[in-house]
Amino acid sequence: MEESFKAFDYGTRFGGRYFPNPIFTASGCAGSGKELSQFFDLSELGAVVTKSISVRPRSGRPTPRMAETPSGMLNSIGLQGPGVDLFLEEDIPWLLEKNARIVVSISGETVEEYASLARRLRNINGLFGIEVNISCPNVENRGLVFACDPVASRAVIESVRRNMGGDYPLIVKLSPDVTDIVSIASEVVSAGADGLALINTVLGMAIDIDKRIPKLAGLTGGLSGPAIRPIAVRAIYQVHKAMPNVPILGMGGVTNGRDALELVFAGASGVSIGTATFGNPMAALKVKTELLQLIQERGFSSFAQAIGAAHEK
Ligand SMILES: Cc1cc2nc3c(=O)[nH]c(=O)nc-3n(C[C@H](O)[C@H](O)[C@H](O)COP(=O)(O)O)c2cc1C
Repeated sequence: MEESFKAFDYGTRFGGRYFPNPIFTASGCAGSGKELSQFFDLSELGAVVTKSISVRPRSGRPTPRMAETPSGMLNSIGLQGPGVDLFLEEDIPWLLEKNARIVVSISGETVEEYASLARRLRNINGLFGIEVNISCPNVENRGLVFACDPVASRAVIESVRRNMGGDYPLIVKLSPDVTDIVSIASEVVSAGADGLALINTVLGMAIDIDKRIPKLAGLTGGLSGPAIRPIAVRAIYQVHKAMPNVPILGMGGVTNGRDALELVFAGASGVSIGTATFGNPMAALKVKTELLQLIQERGFSSFAQAIGAAHEK
């Protein structure tokens, strides 16, 4: 007897690209993937999102630049990295050889820097996406973070869209440190974004009460880990409600399948794993296995069907 058996579709889509599963790394939490590849095959992930690259090499901010907090961590690493030349020469060929689906995160200090990074990525065959990190100070506007300024956010995304290659998605990563995240999201979508990444770290600070000084040399830092998950859930829910057809890559404090499912039910089409990887290099694979099981147990016929399920009442 022939039984029609259809395999469960765990895949997800951003723009024109299909990813066989929805679990990605979070930018800056797995380098360019080399460290993680000692633990598992990178092609097992939906995609590897690289650390944000910049036009020139950067050494990051002064130390100390990490502090532990309850249920999270503060970092003020800044955008430390080798710059785009070395990245294209070394990291990209290595990732392609490992058959990783690559999403390159870019960051700039001016609109033109973003545009020039988008141009440099045009010639990479098989790129699966660009994630534009706009949580960076705009040197042309008193250091005001792009992601907090709708006009500057639009200018960045329009120029990336004009300068990038045509067949991979443009995903814009937003900061939760704004009054109205939906208005920034709709600005960047109308400027040409195919998808959104929510959320970047939340600005925080910690003080050493014995030494009476801030714990981070840079004074403030980005809070990540389980402490920020409710903020991520809220941001994803609000944006998905306003723009249900725009795919969201969700992140913020995901350590297991249940956390990931919460983001998916809020409206995420994919989930990035960041801080959890520092404690457990296998965290992303663990989430991948657990999330699949939780979705199947709940009777969904595909991953796509579970996206935004908390809205259907
Ligand atoms: C040490 C560290 C470095 C990070 N570097 C970047 C980066 O280069 N670009 C970026 O867009 N986000 C960066 N992030 C933010 C993460 O990608 C992610 O949005 C955030 O940490 C929330 O997810 P999590 O709680 O799972 O870590 C960094 C986070 C951490 C903890």
